[in-house]
Amino acid sequence: MPRDAAEDCKNMGVTVTFLGHSAVHIDDGDKKIIIDPFLTGNPSASATPDQLQADMVLLTHDHADHVGDTEHFLKQGATFVGIFELAEHYAGKGYTAEGMNIGGSIEVDGVTLHMTHALHTCHTGHCVGFIVETKDRQIYHAGDTGLSMDLRLLKEFFNIDVAFLPIGDRFTMGPESAARAAEWIGAQRVVPIHYGTWPLIPGDPKRFAQLVGDQAAVLKPGESLTI
Ligand code: NI
Ligand code: MN
Repeated sequence: MPRDAAEDCKNMGVTVTFLGHSAVHIDDGDKKIIIDPFLTGNPSASATPDQLQADMVLLTHDHADHVGDTEHFLKQGATFVGIFELAEHYAGKGYTAEGMNIGGSIEVDGVTLHMTHALHTCHTGHCVGFIVETKDRQIYHAGDTGLSMDLRLLKEFFNIDVAFLPIGDRFTMGPESAARAAEWIGAQRVVPIHYGTWPLIPGDPKRFAQLVGDQAAVLKPGESLTI
C-alpha cells in the first residue's frame, strides 16, 4: 500500500511528557505545545525552561502554579492560547495571543484546540481545560477542577487517548473523585497530576491507580507516553 508523507507523520505518534505538577509538554513531530509551564520554583519540575521548546503555550488559568514560565516561552515567539481575557492580557504585553472561550474550538498552526470547562477559581476570565487534537490523537488536560457533571460530556464528543487529571485534593479533585472522572471521560490512558508538589496537595497516585485500574498511567516528572 502506498504511503504518503502525512501517513508517515501520523505513524510517528505524539509524545506527551509530564514535567511535574501540572506542566505537560506535547510534541507531535511538527509542533511543540506546553501546557501550564510552571517550572522555575516548581519543586517537582523535571526540566528548566531553557531545556524545552514550545510553539504554543496553553494556560488553563492564572494561578501562579500554572502561569510559571509562560512569558519565557512567549518571549521566544510562542503563541499564547487561553481564555479571551487572559489572551487580551498577553496581547497587551506585545505577545502573539489567541483568545477563545469555553465550548469553542480553534486551529493554530495545524493543531486543533478545544476549550473545556473547569470548576475552579482564578483572577482573570474563567478556568478551563484543553483538548489538543493533532495527528489523529486527542490529549485532554483538565486544568484545576473539581468533579463536575460537565466531565461526562467529553465522552459524547471525543475519543480521548490520554487525559491528565488533577488528584491532589484540597484545591482540586482528590483520587476518589478523579477516578470517577476517569470513568466518565473514558480515555485510553489517564495520568494523575497536581499532587505531591507540596504537602498541601497530598493526593496519593497509588490510590488513584488502584481505583482506576488498567487505564492509569502514573508518570514521574520527566516521563513520557507515545500515543
Ligand atoms: Ni488553581
Ligand atoms: Mn493549581
